[in-house]
Amino acid sequence: MTELTQLSSWNALKRHSETVPHMRSLFASDPKRFEKFSLSACGLFLDYSKNKITDETLSQLFSLAKESALTTKIHALLSGEKINTTEQRAVLHSALRAQSDPNINLDGDNIFSEIRQTLAKMENFVDNITSGTWKGYTGKNITDVVSIGIGGSFLGPKIVSQALRPYWTGKINCHFVANVDATSIVEKLKGLNAETTLFIMSSKSFGTQETLTNTLSAKDWFIRQGASQSDVAKHFVAVSSNVTKACEFGIAPENIFPMWDWVGGRYSLWSAIGLPIALLIGMESFRELLAGANEMDEHFANAPLEENMPVIMGLLSVWYVNFFDAQSHVVLTYDHYLRGLPAYFQQLDMESNGKSVTLNGQDVDYKTGPIIWGGEGTNGQHAYHQLLHQGTGLIPADFIMPLNSHNPLGEHHVQLASNCFGQTQALMQGRTFEEALAELKNSALDDNEKQLIAKHKVMPGNKPSNTLLMDKLTPSTLGALIALYEHKTFVQGAIWQINSFDQWGVELGKVLGNDVLERLTATKASAELDSSSNGLINLFRQQKI
Ligand code: F6P
Repeated sequence: MTELTQLSSWNALKRHSETVPHMRSLFASDPKRFEKFSLSACGLFLDYSKNKITDETLSQLFSLAKESALTTKIHALLSGEKINTTEQRAVLHSALRAQSDPNINLDGDNIFSEIRQTLAKMENFVDNITSGTWKGYTGKNITDVVSIGIGGSFLGPKIVSQALRPYWTGKINCHFVANVDATSIVEKLKGLNAETTLFIMSSKSFGTQETLTNTLSAKDWFIRQGASQSDVAKHFVAVSSNVTKACEFGIAPENIFPMWDWVGGRYSLWSAIGLPIALLIGMESFRELLAGANEMDEHFANAPLEENMPVIMGLLSVWYVNFFDAQSHVVLTYDHYLRGLPAYFQQLDMESNGKSVTLNGQDVDYKTGPIIWGGEGTNGQHAYHQLLHQGTGLIPADFIMPLNSHNPLGEHHVQLASNCFGQTQALMQGRTFEEALAELKNSALDDNEKQLIAKHKVMPGNKPSNTLLMDKLTPSTLGALIALYEHKTFVQGAIWQINSFDQWGVELGKVLGNDVLERLTATKASAELDSSSNGLINLFRQQKI
């Protein structure tokens, strides 16, 4: 038995989970439920009233937080304690967006001055590129930037850039390459001109196979387009914590933007990894993005647990994962610009909390990180909402929508909102058999047929959802939104007593992948492998199935 499952609050929640009435009756018995279970912070509004909760539920969840020393753990995170214990590292993505010196001294380094220097280096670079001061090897302005990176070195820049499309200055085109599948880079290079293209190679470790291979192919393309090796410095920059390897790779030292080991890859968009974002939206908007996230950091650090947005969202997720066996959590963005956000939250949440050993090395005896998935509304209503409404599992949902569109057009936005709110209502109230039967009253079906069809039309409801609104999608509200989910993810890991900041689970695949690579390229035999791996390798080598 782990410490967590012996907590009195944990066992009280288990007993309580069997007593929570259907949300229909909870709303019927409390006209003020919406006001009671909603919260504004940092330009965001959270309606969490459509959850399977009562005052008692929340009281017990906050007891769990207190028994888990959550407030102390939040302080440890934000003050730079080495909470990433398996790598002996601090976790300080919050410092990247601090608006004033957080006075954190890490192993003798004043990190704030390093952060400020890097932001200044980014600003200078963005100005030089977008003003045309930085010229390509034939003296032309840079018009296109190709960002090469994967995981947190791709998802953050790509998805935040996509979300802030209304804020692009139009001075630079940006293209993102991640997958080692050659199609990714071949398609992105089509139509580009080496004279006016600059590559940003983003890799915290500078050891990720996909990124190294893509960058080598980019260099090869660059030379084949007529440039010479000496021109590389004008067209390749790098973002990495491994300056030595970046220099060995041929990146000019002055073109290397630093990263630090106290910034996790999936938390790094606020660092120089966000360079493509800054190139597209400008440094002023990039700084607004940072400021919005910082506002959420301050809220997370100072708001009482009971009025703390990330804490409430994190505890609600624990409630469903551990007491209602929720296997997944769906994020539905009712805004086309935010369509990539579920994919971003997948790495953020699943690479952080997909763990099964506690900090002190015990196997967990409870569920931890859920599967995060989702997409844009209203598209999902025509794809997977059927399962959300009538499937056999409980899938908590987050609905995210700005109240105002960047593209007001006729009835579009009010229809989008009607779908968003209507879906949360349907998930909550469902449709009873009696209601379904009444709807068939005037149909041509006979009584037996009406009974049968009504049965198929029943929707249990009582399906929980959060609705997150913002006045408008801006750099500031997007920063606050992403920081909200970062801290929600932290809250869950803190309750589960796991390390949310390492990722040992991705190492074996990389090692075995490199071994298979040697066998595919016929430098090693494969007979000693399992028959499947051996068979697949042979099929590839023989190039026939
Ligand atoms: O998926 C493993 C991982 O290390 C992620 O955590 C990281 O974002 C990605 O690979 C890329 O790593 P790097 O930035 O070091 O190339």
